Amino acid sequence: MKDKVVLITGGSSGIGEAAALAFAREGAKVSVAARRIPEGQETVRQIKEAGGEAIFVQTDVSKAREVQALVEQTVEEYGRLDYAFNNAGIEGPHFVPITDYPEEAWDQVMDINLKGVWLCMKYAIPHMLEQSKGAIVNMSSVTGLIGGRSGAPYCASKHGVIGLTKAVALEYATQGIRVNAVCPAVIRTELAERLFFSKPEMAKRVPGFHPMGRTGTVEEVAQVVVWLCSDAASFVTGHALPIDGGMIAQ
Ligand SMILES: NC(=O)c1ccc[n+]([C@@H]2O[C@H](COP(=O)([O-])OP(=O)(O)OC[C@H]3O[C@@H](n4cnc5c(N)ncnc54)[C@H](O)[C@@H]3O)[C@@H](O)[C@H]2O)c1
Repeated sequence: MKDKVVLITGGSSGIGEAAALAFAREGAKVSVAARRIPEGQETVRQIKEAGGEAIFVQTDVSKAREVQALVEQTVEEYGRLDYAFNNAGIEGPHFVPITDYPEEAWDQVMDINLKGVWLCMKYAIPHMLEQSKGAIVNMSSVTGLIGGRSGAPYCASKHGVIGLTKAVALEYATQGIRVNAVCPAVIRTELAERLFFSKPEMAKRVPGFHPMGRTGTVEEVAQVVVWLCSDAASFVTGHALPIDGGMIAQ
């Protein structure tokens, strides 16, 4: 991926941070987007310390103007855009009955998890079309493939990401742009800590949800994302790939 440029949203922590480091190790220049400045800058510092190139652009992916500015700043800095990992997301309220779910929370989950993915594609694709080549990976979840009991709006947003991914993949299939989604099960990140591991009873049960008997690592997701963007996956598009230790196979 030498001389290639990747844009990663939610690159300040968890899966996005691991992906930023993994793309940099492959030689790509990385544009790290997230809301939290010190954490985003820390990802850039780690990449530079390892000899890579990266910039941080503070961005709220639910705001069209900010996403447009992010893509413009990335292309201004590095002259091109080859890959986008549209990863930023929030869990929203969980374990709240749908009848009690606050409307503002619904809007926020949809705006970040689903609209944010659309906005990133909307502004990234024109630059990929200029070179008739590009690869996009959108962040869904196993709950984009099956129902989840913990958060219906989150589940709906992640199902939406898969529909969006498939439709956009078809739209650009003949124009050199591949679009796929990844669907992780439980990966140990800040988000998973808040959702599952802050509750001792739940924490004990979570590894057992996966036939492999353990949760996944951020690195295991990052490697799949790198592969999906690489030419090794040149005939893969419109796919929603579980990274789940066998959960969906049950
Ligand atoms: N950890 C899991 O078990 C798991 C499983 C399936 C899917 N996912 C998805 O993976 C993605 C990354 O989550 P994670 O687990 O690494 O958690 P995380 O909380 O560490 O990372 C989420 C990232 O998104 C950023 N973000 C949130 N809202 C944003 C906004 N409006 N604009 C820009 N950035 C924003 C956060 O700052 C953070 O960098 C999310 O979309 C999440 O839904 C996570």
